[in-house]
Amino acid sequence: MILLGIETSCDETAAALVERNGDGSGRILSDIVLSQVDDHAAFGGVVPEIAARAHVEALDGVVAAAMHKVGLSYRDIAAVAATAGPGLIGGLLVGLTTAKAIALAAARPLVAVNHLEGHALTARLTDNLQFPYLLLLVSGGHTQFLAVKGVGRYTRIGTTIDDALGEAFDKAAKLLGLPYPGGPAVEAMAKRGNPARFTLPRPLIDRPGADFSFSGLKTALRLQAEAIAPLTETDVADLCASFQAAVVDVIANRAGHAMAIFRNAHFRADTLVVAGGVAANESIRATLRERATANGFRLVTPPARLCTDNAVMIAWAGAERLALGLTDPLDVPARPRWPLDELAAPKLGSGAKGTRA
Ligand code: KG4
Ligand code: ZN
Repeated sequence: MILLGIETSCDETAAALVERNGDGSGRILSDIVLSQVDDHAAFGGVVPEIAARAHVEALDGVVAAAMHKVGLSYRDIAAVAATAGPGLIGGLLVGLTTAKAIALAAARPLVAVNHLEGHALTARLTDNLQFPYLLLLVSGGHTQFLAVKGVGRYTRIGTTIDDALGEAFDKAAKLLGLPYPGGPAVEAMAKRGNPARFTLPRPLIDRPGADFSFSGLKTALRLQAEAIAPLTETDVADLCASFQAAVVDVIANRAGHAMAIFRNAHFRADTLVVAGGVAANESIRATLRERATANGFRLVTPPARLCTDNAVMIAWAGAERLALGLTDPLDVPARPRWPLDELAAPKLGSGAKGTRA
């Protein structure tokens, strides 16, 4: 069966067609991603209202391009899948409403996909993984360890109690005068810097469990930078290297704990998957690979293009759900907050800080 997927939860307007075979394997037929990075760069972060308007303008063309590439009509697809949350409400409404219109016009079922489930199931498309496995999802909006037990069956093993890791990279870049998005810029500067020059905290590293915290690290970085301002290029490189070294230490420690927790609960599984934009970071990947090996796990890293936001993962998650008969009514709402693990209470109440958890 072939599914159309639509993703509009943040600053990528994306549409894709994915085929899923009866044996559970899959194939990407088309994959269109239109990034809005240039629209937001001047603001140093994603502006929700600009994002929503950009999705409205671009989505029709992006969906048409995905369909045209394969030469199919809407009648040829089995269902339409769209991200229904979590994410920015304006963008979610654009994508979900478009999907509803196509589903209604073509008389096909709708699948409302949780964006995090899209990230979580991508490795089954790319690496034919069997359940269960451990996932580290690290992006601009999410930082969490999940036990992926089956479609719709997730247990959160750890999460951030404040900023997401990608967000911490973006804020670090902003305060050091580097361009948005900050992750690639910080990583590039870190390669030239001295990671031992500045002493920065490793939040939560002496605590049990697999939760993260990054806001204290960001504040410490700001204080160190302010203390020696104005910054030379060498200062910036050394600050980036010191920041990244702290992040890598935290990830190594938390991953070790997460693997132990996961193994205790699901002892026959031994795969760690890393996904999300931050997974592009070479130091983080290398640390995770080393930690995984040390713990008897293998590390699976889907290609970077499928780790960052895309519609292939939404079409694929939709196909996995459709194969189990899981579809949604046309009045299904968009959900700005939608934790994958429905039983997991928000870490810090249900306010803004709860979103990232
Ligand atoms: O998954 P993604 O494309 O979008 C979502 O947030 O869902 O992730 C984007 C995030 C940004 O915060 C960006 O700074 C970060 O991933 N990122 C990186 C790197 N490349 C992208 N962080 C650290 N190192 C990188 N090389
Ligand atoms: Zn994402």
